[in-house]
Amino acid sequence: MDNHRLLAELSEFLRIPSISTLPKHDPDCRRAAEWVAADLRRLGCTDVQLLASETHPVVWGVGPEVPGAPTLVIYGHYDVQPPDPLNEWVTAPFEPTVRDGKLYARGSADDKGQVFCLLRAIEAAGQPRVNLRFLIEGEEEHGSKVLFDLLKREPHRVKADAVLVADMAYVAPGWPAVYTALRGLCYAEISVRTSKTDLHSGEYGGAAPNAHEELARLLGRLKGPDGKINIPGLYQAVKPPAKQELASWRRLPFKEKTFLDKQVQAKALTGLKKYSVLERLWALPTFEIHGIMGGFTGEGAKTVIPALATAKVSLRLVPNQKMKTVEKQLRAAVKKLAPKYVEATVTFLHGADPAQMKLSNPVFKKLDQAFKDVVGRAPVAARAGGSIPIVPALASGGAPVVMTGIGLPDDRLHAPNEKLDLKQLWDGIKVFKRFYELLGE
Ligand code: BES
Ligand code: MN
Ligand code: MN
Repeated sequence: MDNHRLLAELSEFLRIPSISTLPKHDPDCRRAAEWVAADLRRLGCTDVQLLASETHPVVWGVGPEVPGAPTLVIYGHYDVQPPDPLNEWVTAPFEPTVRDGKLYARGSADDKGQVFCLLRAIEAAGQPRVNLRFLIEGEEEHGSKVLFDLLKREPHRVKADAVLVADMAYVAPGWPAVYTALRGLCYAEISVRTSKTDLHSGEYGGAAPNAHEELARLLGRLKGPDGKINIPGLYQAVKPPAKQELASWRRLPFKEKTFLDKQVQAKALTGLKKYSVLERLWALPTFEIHGIMGGFTGEGAKTVIPALATAKVSLRLVPNQKMKTVEKQLRAAVKKLAPKYVEATVTFLHGADPAQMKLSNPVFKKLDQAFKDVVGRAPVAARAGGSIPIVPALASGGAPVVMTGIGLPDDRLHAPNEKLDLKQLWDGIKVFKRFYELLGE
C-alpha cells in the first residue's frame, strides 16, 4: 500500500467542510458528494449518480457486474458535524494533520475516514467477486431525511445479500466490534413563554413569572437528580437485554474507571445507579439538554425578566421503543409538568427508531474471519449508544446489516480534535479487503 498517496487522498476529502446542518455549507456538501462520485468512477463503478440532488445528494454507484456473486450495499456518510468550539482544536478542523500516528480532522473517524477505508479496500482487493452497490449520504448528522424518502420511493436499492455500515469503533484498542443494536433518537425544542414581552426586573420582579426559571424547573422535573426520566410511559416499551447478553458485556474489555478518566474526563459518572454503565449507555433511554436559548446573554448586565426561553433536548431510544410514540409521550409530559400559567410548546426536529440486528446470518462469520486474519481477533458483539437513523430502512429489504467500524473509543466524534489512528486506517483497509474477498468465496 502506498500510504503516502492514501493519506494525501483522504486529506483532500477531509479538507471539504461538508457540514450538513449549516446551510452555508451546502456547496461544500455537494463538493464532498462529487468527491465520492469521482472516486466511485475511478474504482470502475457504472451508473454513478447524485440522487435527490436538490438537497444534500445521496451518492449512488454500481460496481462491476459479477454474475452469480453476492450483492453488498456499502453505506456511509460524507457529512460531518460542526467543528465548534474552534479555539479548542490544536490544528484547524479542516486542515488534516498527522501528529503521533494520528490523523486529526473533523470527519477523520466519523465518517469520511471510514468511507475512504471501504473504498480503498476495494482497490486493494483488485476485482472482488462481489456485486457492489453504494449509498453514501450527506445528511446522516441531520436525520437522513433525504435517504429515508429515497428508500421509500425506491426500496430496490437495498435489495442485497448484505449491507455494510462502517461508522463505529472498536470497543478497545485491539478489540474490534460488531454491533447488535443502535439507539434511536427523538430531538426537539421545548419553549416556555411566560409573558407577552420581556419585563423590567425591578418593576416586575417578585410578581411576574420568569421564562428561564420556569424552563429550568420544567427541565428539572423531566429528569430527576437520580437520572430517572419522568415521562409517563417512557420505560414501558424498553426491552431489557437478555441475561446472556448482559453476561457477555461483563466480559468486554470495559473498565468504568478508564472510561471516566480517559473518555468522559469528568469527576464522576451519573445516571441510574442500579444499572451498570454499559446498560445505561446501551440499553436505557436518555434525556439530554443540548443548549438553552433566550434572555440576556450578552456582555455586561441587563436587568430583565425574559418572556421566552427555549431548550434543545433529545432522548436516545432503545430496542422496542418507537420514535413517534416517544414524541407523543414527551409532548404529554411537558403539558403535564408545566404550570398552567406558562405556555409550553414542543417542536419536534428529527429522530430515528432504534435498530437491532441478529448475528445469525453467515455473513457475520466472514466478518469474524476477516478481522481474525488481519488483527488477530474476531469482533466482539456490542451495542452502540449512538444512532444511525437510516439503519432500520437499510434492513427493510431483508438483508442483514453488518455494523462495525475501525475507530477507537477515544476518537472524540463531534468534539474538538477528532482523530483517526493511522494504524486503524491501514488495518481497516486490509480487514475490508479480506471481507470482500471472503464474500466472493
Ligand atoms: N457515527 C455516529 C453514530 C455512532 C457514534 C454510532 C458512536 C456508534 C458509536 C453518527 O454519525 C452519529 O453521530 N449519529 C447521530 C445521529 C443523529 C444526528 C440523528 C447521533 O448519534 O447523534
Ligand atoms: Mn457517523
Ligand atoms: Mn456523527
